[in-house]
Amino acid sequence: MSKVTVVGAGNVGATCANVLAFNEVADEVVMLDIKEGISEGKAMDMMQTAQLLVFDTRLVGCTNDYAKTANSDVCVITSGIPRKPGMTREELLGVNAGIVKGVAENLLKYSPNAIIVCISNPMDTMTYLALKALKLPKNRVIGMGGALDSSRFKYFLSQALGCNANEVEGFVIGGHGDTTMIPMARFATYKGMPVTNFLSAEKLDEVVKSTMVGGATLTGLLGTSAWYAPGAAGAFVVESIIHDQKKMIPCSVLLEGEYGEKDLCIGVPVILGKNGIEKIVELDLNADEKAKFKASAESVRGNVNALKDLKLV
Ligand code: 2OP
Repeated sequence: MSKVTVVGAGNVGATCANVLAFNEVADEVVMLDIKEGISEGKAMDMMQTAQLLVFDTRLVGCTNDYAKTANSDVCVITSGIPRKPGMTREELLGVNAGIVKGVAENLLKYSPNAIIVCISNPMDTMTYLALKALKLPKNRVIGMGGALDSSRFKYFLSQALGCNANEVEGFVIGGHGDTTMIPMARFATYKGMPVTNFLSAEKLDEVVKSTMVGGATLTGLLGTSAWYAPGAAGAFVVESIIHDQKKMIPCSVLLEGEYGEKDLCIGVPVILGKNGIEKIVELDLNADEKAKFKASAESVRGNVNALKDLKLV
């Protein structure tokens, strides 16, 4: 039996659980929230769609009862406060760090072998925190930011090309921040052909810029952070692990010399399978990409140092 826990039944967590159930990624999906009744209510509501949407996944909701999460294969952490318009993801650090650390500790008590997928922001820093505070092996803690940012990149590429997003390939590396993510325009393709064959440099630059502020644009429109794509990106990462799909997905992972960096979690392409991170894929970056990656890493390192100052790691 496969089991996934999603902590935080807000918009992102509930969407993630819903996608996991609808796609029958696991036999059981447990949602846990600190707010009385919210997980139970959302789980019951989703279970009442099972006959309509035809899925067999069992959804369980609970209020802070970690015993119900026992023996999960994968645990997704979405807890913490979301961004408000005008806020950066980084501004959430102080509040969310304490929350994420406590959640991760509780999860590990009941599922000591679980793989942890971090969605809470600032995502790269929360991934590092979960990894270091719980002294887990690096294959077992994964930040999902690159999966989301890559999906947004493909969306904006498809809009510019006037095609279906599934005909486009593209990925984003670096930090999950408005100024730190690096959409890899050089590797983006439309039906296997470089997108530069179809889009002008100016147009491609617009696509890159829209991708980088993709989350902030939605926060401005919605008054809170986005949830459909963040939740689905979390489920996409979980699926590759639970079904041992070995998909190559850009995720935030601990680097130990790869890409010239160490002691921080940042987005790079990885192979995800039943053991979590099974391989870090090293790309041959050009000088410009290397400089951007280094600047991105410096920025993420600033947050890691803030965690150290707060004595959380
Ligand atoms: C996003 O990019 C909030 O990080 C989340 O939408």
